[in-house]
Amino acid sequence: MEQIVVNGSESQVVVDDSNLLQKKISAIRVGGPGKLQVIADFDGTLTKYWIDGCRGQGSHNVVQQEDPEFNDKRQKLYEYYHPLEFDPTIPLDEKTKLMEEWWGKTHALLIEGGVTYNGIQNSVAKARIAFRDGVTELLELLEEKGVPVLIFSAGLADIIEEVLKQKVHRSFKNVRVVSNRMVFDENGHLQSFKGKTIHVLNKNEHALDMAAPLHDHCDDVKGLGDEKYALKKRTNVLLLGDHIGDLGMSNGLDYETRISVGFLNDRVEDSLECYRKAFDILYLNDASMHGVLKLATHLCSTESD
Ligand code: TMP
Ligand code: MG
Repeated sequence: MEQIVVNGSESQVVVDDSNLLQKKISAIRVGGPGKLQVIADFDGTLTKYWIDGCRGQGSHNVVQQEDPEFNDKRQKLYEYYHPLEFDPTIPLDEKTKLMEEWWGKTHALLIEGGVTYNGIQNSVAKARIAFRDGVTELLELLEEKGVPVLIFSAGLADIIEEVLKQKVHRSFKNVRVVSNRMVFDENGHLQSFKGKTIHVLNKNEHALDMAAPLHDHCDDVKGLGDEKYALKKRTNVLLLGDHIGDLGMSNGLDYETRISVGFLNDRVEDSLECYRKAFDILYLNDASMHGVLKLATHLCSTESD
């Protein structure tokens, strides 16, 4: 079965404990697709890290504001805080404060410098952002098998949903986005953000409780409650992430078996040991999603091989 994971891209995949992985694969297959759910990070996981030799944009960086000076202000914050995000010498509590500061300042600038819903559509149309090859096929497979997908991101829900619309050209009834969601006034101007801010170091809290259906207006409380209940009964998880903090995305669930898949996009030498121990399967070199597609096909198949 290992070749299902590594097939065709052996130099790009690392499995630290293949016996453990085999056991997890068998357990998830026994449970069947009815017990499975997928929880995926967005930036750097579903999307490519490099596009034509340039860094792909994250969902925050895509936004072009009404007053362009505010794009520069946010870019300056990015240049200051992004290196701190990946600095292994900063203690976790200190780093959490820094990340709260970064997200707080950035969201305030987004409101102050003006963002419109139309502006978001235009920003996404011009953005350097692309899904990894195989992501659409993966979402299609999971939809066909009735497996829910939670996209859990510290980015911006409105951008993620617009990227899905523009780049995949269809919506998926099994996909939900949990991320920072904008509130627009009656003239289509950004007014505030909904609920608690999600940053890279608190992606472990109340994931399912924050879930809002794709393209919805969060009014369907009863429907959402039923859905959350159904999700909590799906106790086998395939988790996809590119950050150690992404492993916390399944903490709101009392899961039985979890297979975690990591994408190590940058500073490979610094982080390889830590990532290979943390994730069951680790992809290097901005790999495609084809390995995960094969794995998901196998997890959902009822054949006995
Ligand atoms: P993710 O949870 O989907 O990976 O998104 C979080 C990433 O967004 C994180 O790596 C930092 C990045 N980010 C920006 O690129 N620009 C910003 O202004 C902010 C606040 C975060
Ligand atoms: Mg990410």
